[in-house]
Amino acid sequence: MLAIRTILFLSLIMTMLTPAIVRADFPDVDQLSDRADLPDPLVMLDGTPVRTAGEWREKRRPELIKLFEWYMYGAAPAAPKFTAHVDSEHEVLGGKARMKQVTITFGPAGHESDGQIHLLLFVPAVQKKPAPVLLGLNFRGNHMVIAHPAIRLPTLWMPNGPGMENNRATEAGRGLEAPHWGLDQAIDRGYAVATFYHGDVKLDKPTWDDGVPALYFQSGQSAPGDHEWGTIAAWAWGLSRTVDYLVSDPDIDGKRIAVFGHSRNGKTALLAGALDERFALVIPSQAGCGGTSPSRGTVGESVERINTAFPHWFNATFKKFSRATSKLPFDQHCLIALVAPRPVLLTNATGDQWANPSGQFEMLKAAEPVFKLLGAEGCGAGTLPPENELVNTHLGYFIRPGKHDMSQVEWKQWLDFADKQLPK
Ligand code: GCU
Repeated sequence: MLAIRTILFLSLIMTMLTPAIVRADFPDVDQLSDRADLPDPLVMLDGTPVRTAGEWREKRRPELIKLFEWYMYGAAPAAPKFTAHVDSEHEVLGGKARMKQVTITFGPAGHESDGQIHLLLFVPAVQKKPAPVLLGLNFRGNHMVIAHPAIRLPTLWMPNGPGMENNRATEAGRGLEAPHWGLDQAIDRGYAVATFYHGDVKLDKPTWDDGVPALYFQSGQSAPGDHEWGTIAAWAWGLSRTVDYLVSDPDIDGKRIAVFGHSRNGKTALLAGALDERFALVIPSQAGCGGTSPSRGTVGESVERINTAFPHWFNATFKKFSRATSKLPFDQHCLIALVAPRPVLLTNATGDQWANPSGQFEMLKAAEPVFKLLGAEGCGAGTLPPENELVNTHLGYFIRPGKHDMSQVEWKQWLDFADKQLPK
């Protein structure tokens, strides 16, 4: 009797310690039916139609979130407690902005201070009221975003490239990526900008011995379980941890937080915006496969290719779809639909067919019925718009000539879109 009680007690403790993994059980991949066409976002997995905004909210939205977690991105744990410390403040950009470095510290029981995000935040120096903010990940460290000697040099592994030596940041890297950041434009127009290196949460490597996910492993575990978070879900979770802080920062309007990201960081921005309704506006830029372009698409990067080149971005279950995308019970329009009724803007480049810009437009259009059901405007264009013409409707789209890049042109569109679409 005592032994049974002890076992029950221990299993209760284990349940409490286990991260919030998805409890739902969905069919094995080979038991899913083939759908060459797009699954209808307004039909439940069992075929029941979704007719009202209430049914979407109560039934279909939670189901789709679980489906994406189960089959593709993996589930992340619940938000842990955190502390935040403003490490420094400097005047920058000729005095028109204040730059704050903030360390956000968090972690699961036993690792409360082992998770850290080093946030770099720029706020307009003159503010009549708290500023809206654009929050996005960076690829290679905060010090690259603007040349300033006070920015802490990251000590973590970084992908090699200009300004790096043996996969570590160097002084030479300061400001190297400034041309890709629209800090001047954003500050001039009254926006704050926030960023952190995605490696703070998880290095972009197919190994699992670093970062936040490892803090959550059970003893003996060395990689996430089949339905637990991959790297993109971990990064998206990190963006939400940053929101935990931002809503308490008096310089920031917590009701006007936009999330943006380029490429892999754009895939992450969409997932973060889909899951966390505190993001008031979502801008995945040139996000492509695994983000805004159809998994069933035939242009550019395929699911098989992304699963091979970047196996860590998604969960283990997603690999089973590499040659069976028609079995996916959703496509990426359903992820866009999860943002509804909040606004979404997809920005693209004609020279970036790897990210399938026209397939992305199809995803945007296919998400429309959900936005309309919730009483929001759809997309103002019926066909792929011409280059350099921002479709500035609730579901927005923009394509420019040129290659895969985050440029001043994108920033201008993002700000035009935010001016019109962020809640006032
Ligand atoms: C690769 C990858 C894309 C990704 C891109 C990036 O090209 O195939 O899926 O979006 O890197 O993040 O820059």
